[in-house]
Amino acid sequence: MCGIVGYIGDKNGIDIVVKGLQRLEYRGYDSAGVAGISAGKIQIVKKNGRVDVLRQTVEDVKFSSHVGIGHTRWATHGEPSDINAHPHISHKGKVAIVHNGIIENYLSLKKELQKKGKVFLSETDSEVIAHLLEEVLENSAGDMIAALQIVQRTLVGAFAVVILSVDEPNLIYAIKKGTPLVLGIGKGENFLASDGTPLVQYTKSVIYIGDGEILRLSANDFQIYNSDIQEISHATSVLEMEMSMIEKDGYAHFMLKEIYEQPKTILDSMRGRIAADMSEVKLGGINNYAPQLYNANRYLFLACGTSYHAGMVARYVFEQLCRVSCEVDVASEFRYRKPVIHAGDAIFAISQSGETADTIVAIEEAKHHGANIFGICNVVGSTISRVSHEGAYTHAGVEIGVASTKAFTAQLTVLYLFALKIAQSKGTLTPAQIKQYCSELHAIPDQVSEILALSPQILEISKSLKDIHSMLFLGRGVQFPIALEGALKMKEITYIHAEGYAAGEMKHGPIALIDEFVPTVIIAIKDSNYLKVLSNIKEIKARKGKVIAIVNKGDDDIKGIADFCIEIPETSELLAPLLTTIPLQLLAYHTANVRGCDIDKPRNLAKSVTVE
Ligand code: M6R
Repeated sequence: MCGIVGYIGDKNGIDIVVKGLQRLEYRGYDSAGVAGISAGKIQIVKKNGRVDVLRQTVEDVKFSSHVGIGHTRWATHGEPSDINAHPHISHKGKVAIVHNGIIENYLSLKKELQKKGKVFLSETDSEVIAHLLEEVLENSAGDMIAALQIVQRTLVGAFAVVILSVDEPNLIYAIKKGTPLVLGIGKGENFLASDGTPLVQYTKSVIYIGDGEILRLSANDFQIYNSDIQEISHATSVLEMEMSMIEKDGYAHFMLKEIYEQPKTILDSMRGRIAADMSEVKLGGINNYAPQLYNANRYLFLACGTSYHAGMVARYVFEQLCRVSCEVDVASEFRYRKPVIHAGDAIFAISQSGETADTIVAIEEAKHHGANIFGICNVVGSTISRVSHEGAYTHAGVEIGVASTKAFTAQLTVLYLFALKIAQSKGTLTPAQIKQYCSELHAIPDQVSEILALSPQILEISKSLKDIHSMLFLGRGVQFPIALEGALKMKEITYIHAEGYAAGEMKHGPIALIDEFVPTVIIAIKDSNYLKVLSNIKEIKARKGKVIAIVNKGDDDIKGIADFCIEIPETSELLAPLLTTIPLQLLAYHTANVRGCDIDKPRNLAKSVTVE
């Protein structure tokens, strides 16, 4: 969703900010803008559409300023347009702001400010911040920190706001609540951004600004205040990111690069967590809460989208391996169904970005009832990793593709490790079984490489999907969530209507959709559901439906019936999602490519969904 960049130093801040906005494009946006100070005035350029349009315009007008703030906007209040794009400027032109988040009480604030004669130009909730700040500043004798304390307390909702003031041209200010903001510390220059991607080129020394804090930033210095305006100090962190992680590295798309990275990222997510002799799992991140984790009467998995599918897989795995009752919930629904949560329930909050607003709200609800939260996040230092009691990072590296791929398989890997660790502690698996699972997990990266080599065959299959409008994805047991994930990948980037279903449910409704124009992708590997899935394939073929089957190598029975077979290696039933998901990612990718879709920037989608 929206992204923020700020710069102050001796270079042209506008160039640096626009480059930073290009790094943030992956988050999803529809318009972009930048503000700086030149000739003693705040100047703003903002454009509907791609950052490239903004870049061209600032170049054409030779916009230059030693200080700059910029924004990519993902429309919530008001359509995508030049006017609604950020930055927004205050009534008298004293301050300009960029905002990421939602101001829930903006309507009442807007009405009050309008009564005082402030003229609003946009339909956004964000513009209210600029007018409010200017007004409060006037009443605070120009003391920006005091004014920001009042503004911070007045605003309801989630926000990271970065501010330029015409009266203090050598400073940038920022406030934050619930939405990420990272300070990048340079030499003679400082930076601000919504995440590390715009910063890594310049510095690895960062500070994650905390909720309720106020930041004053100059080229050589910074001060951070708490909500009582006492200056506080923060230890700097090292940004765990390399330039190579945020570049395509010769691949046509980030999504493809990330699909191909999976043999390595799966290995990275288990690195150091499995004993060399495969006899045990070691999870450093849960030392303090280990008893609460092992002795919980119930495990609950909360997440959204692809991460929710990882949670669904985990439910099958934890129930079978740990013999404890498990539930999984879409985080956005959790709070609103007034869930029964017992003190001591163990909640796994799963999130690539660690910033998903729905998941954060669900965590708050669970915490409120005394549950212990174990965060499984990819982004180090993210909000969910900080609000969880303990947890484990997935170590998949930066994921830029909006369609999540390597983060998903990393989440699965970490969840398997958790399940094995708990089973080990509870004694629900024998040492020999633990060893067997660890060895099989260890073999997965090579098996994934084998499947990636099938890419040319999968490309051929995807050509047959070029013009279709609707398709089904079916799986049974632990493959049901993978069918959902396959359908999600397909619809996200190809815009084909793709429905994921439990294969056993097909005859209860979706079978009505099947004809020669609605193909079915079905996961039909040799697991405990194999014979039932085979029957499902026959039922589809009897109705002239096309079948693309994911099967184990050498499965001649299904080869004789299905239209296409993608043959993958074998592993144990519960670990197989790590393999079956790979051909589905490639199928979605190639289909999107043959349909000419913008794979890394799918329409309407945001990488990190920071609003409820
Ligand atoms: O960052 P998160 O894992 O919390 O994000 C959750 C979903 O928004 C995300 O998985 C989304 O569904 C992806 N676009 C899926 O490819």
